[in-house]
Amino acid sequence: MVDWLTVAMPKGRIFHEAVELLRKADYPLPPEFEDSRKLIIEIEEAKMRFILAKPMDVPTYVEHGVADIGIAGKDVMLEEERVVYEVLDLNISECHLAVAGLAGAEKKSFAPKIATKYPNVAAKYFREQGEQVEIIHLNGSIELAPMIGLADRIVDIVSTGRTLKENGLVELQNIMTITSRLIVNPASYRMKAEMIDELVERLKNVVAWKGEATGEDFSLNR
Ligand code: PRP
Repeated sequence: MVDWLTVAMPKGRIFHEAVELLRKADYPLPPEFEDSRKLIIEIEEAKMRFILAKPMDVPTYVEHGVADIGIAGKDVMLEEERVVYEVLDLNISECHLAVAGLAGAEKKSFAPKIATKYPNVAAKYFREQGEQVEIIHLNGSIELAPMIGLADRIVDIVSTGRTLKENGLVELQNIMTITSRLIVNPASYRMKAEMIDELVERLKNVVAWKGEATGEDFSLNR
């Protein structure tokens, strides 16, 4: 489907805001988007096909070219380090990546255990801090780890702060702000230039712009 765009959408936390943003940009996403259990949804009139993926897998689909574009959190981008272009900060689903633990958790000095969904990001962060740690890779419910003695601290996303609070944990360091990004497969960016440029422009017009552009002018690579 050369003249169709395939978009990898992250299910979960980002999904609703991403759908709203696309609707604001005049892409006619039907109500079944939110209601259905379908994993592929096609919208004939827009010539767009949506793949509903696990957030951590979105950059993989885009790197392999089975999706031309995708929406992925900066957290996922940093963890996965995939070869894709990050063309636009969508400024949705803002949250931050933090180190947290039980109160006083920062005091353990020798090789503390750090539980996280982001082993690469966490390892890099503690390396830069000059702290030797042992990383424990989990897939979710990270806050459990210090509560049951699996880890001394965690590195995880904090959004409202409710999960930390309700589980008696405190934030110890704020690592960085996270927002969702529009990512593009480099080959698709050349082959489907017109459709992708239009999508980027339409999204740019509805993004609640807060800061600098994400970076490079990717058109130079075409
Ligand atoms: C994320 C994150 C925290 C929680 C933070 O988990 O990993 O657990 O949200 O949100 P809050 O600050 O608003 O409480 P998610 O719901 O994505 O599920 P997970 O535990 O399976 O990773």
